[in-house]
Amino acid sequence: MAQTWTPNSWRQKPIQQVPDYPDLAALETVEARLAKYPPLVFAGEARRLKAALANVAEGRGFLLQGGDCAESFAEHGADTIRDFFRAFLQMAVVLTFGAQQPVVKVGRIAGQFAKPRSSGVEKQGDVTLPSYRGDIINGIEFTEEARLPNPERQIMAYRQSAATLNLLRAFAMGGYANLENVHQWMLGFVKDSPQAERYRKLADRISETMDFMKAIGITSENHPSLRETDFFTSHEALLLGYEQALTRVDSTSGDWYATSGHMIWIGDRTRQPDHAHVEYCRGIKNPIGLKCGPSMTADGLLELIDILNPANEAGRLTLICRFGHDKVAEHLPRLIRAVEREGKKVVWSCDPMHGNTITLNNYKTRPFERILSEVESFFQIHRAEGTHPGGIHIEMTGNDVTECTGGARALSGDDLADRYHTHCDPRLNADQALELAFLLAERMKGGRDEKKMVVNG
Ligand code: PEP
Ligand code: CO
Repeated sequence: MAQTWTPNSWRQKPIQQVPDYPDLAALETVEARLAKYPPLVFAGEARRLKAALANVAEGRGFLLQGGDCAESFAEHGADTIRDFFRAFLQMAVVLTFGAQQPVVKVGRIAGQFAKPRSSGVEKQGDVTLPSYRGDIINGIEFTEEARLPNPERQIMAYRQSAATLNLLRAFAMGGYANLENVHQWMLGFVKDSPQAERYRKLADRISETMDFMKAIGITSENHPSLRETDFFTSHEALLLGYEQALTRVDSTSGDWYATSGHMIWIGDRTRQPDHAHVEYCRGIKNPIGLKCGPSMTADGLLELIDILNPANEAGRLTLICRFGHDKVAEHLPRLIRAVEREGKKVVWSCDPMHGNTITLNNYKTRPFERILSEVESFFQIHRAEGTHPGGIHIEMTGNDVTECTGGARALSGDDLADRYHTHCDPRLNADQALELAFLLAERMKGGRDEKKMVVNG
């Protein structure tokens, strides 16, 4: 890829998943307006995230990435953001304890609006309309008017992202993320969980550790790291006109950065090496994610790694594997071996959501057991290959929705209709998300004990 890159060089390439805007002049006007708006994030923050991810790539950290499949204008509100952040922080604390490593916290939030679709149209009865592509593009209602792509929605998505980010920054730095709060919430969850006994042991150990720290004088008053946290944002860089408008030169380094979020990723449907999405992402310096589904070949992956991370910089590239619980054993080992053979530095993350979607009672859902099973296989395979299972990538909400089946409260197919609110894919609810964290923490601890036995024995 010797050709020069510019923020709009992607426009010369073939592209998938583009909305059919009826008024291209209106689209251009909106993009020009966005290009004058302030950046949502700063280059220095993206660099800090990259440094944290470099530690993960080197086996010294764990990435927790999660949030909505698709943020919506309708669900935008302080309570939704707070409840998500609370569930997410609890997961992070439990995973930190399980991994005994720093957990890098990255939300699918404050910009996760555009959705790739398997079909460009949706048919209901005799009526065929353009598919819903996320609130940044069109409306979810099945009417001709709502489904028409409207560029003004990009401005609304930008403003919603700015407001969301503002509240998240306040939560992260203003005391809400205090470890003592998070610990109390976690104890509340454990007390009410049908699996209370199982989780109590881990929760008690976290409590003891906190008491010990307090006893020797380490408190949130004298240690900012106990009351503040680093929290980063991410989304799929699908709508490239929007991304281009928010691509800015960093004045300290002279490099280009996407300022729509700290980390952006390339979806499984738009990762063709000679197409527009890869072209856009190769030129910006943010940390990048790359979704790897069952059709990813070892050679295809190495080609993409060379394009996206030619300097083999640790922290630049996160491979987000999403094969399905029954396919991960078939596909993951060959990719790991190719990456290891070539000495490529990557973060290996597991998305156990997108390969495990089924339809039940006319609802798209994901069985909790399959989600857990894909993550477990991911861990086992990495252990067998001697590589670091560096993270998980999940779709979740802090609300009490009924979108995925199973979990400690054993949601059934009949429960799905109760509170099925997602605008796109089914999310883990707060209880299911935290339960997943507890189950993973148990296994991480088990893995460490096993390793110690091998070393000592
Ligand atoms: C997503 O993360 O919501 C998504 C569409 O994923 P994928 O590209 O892996 O299908
Ligand atoms: Co999704």
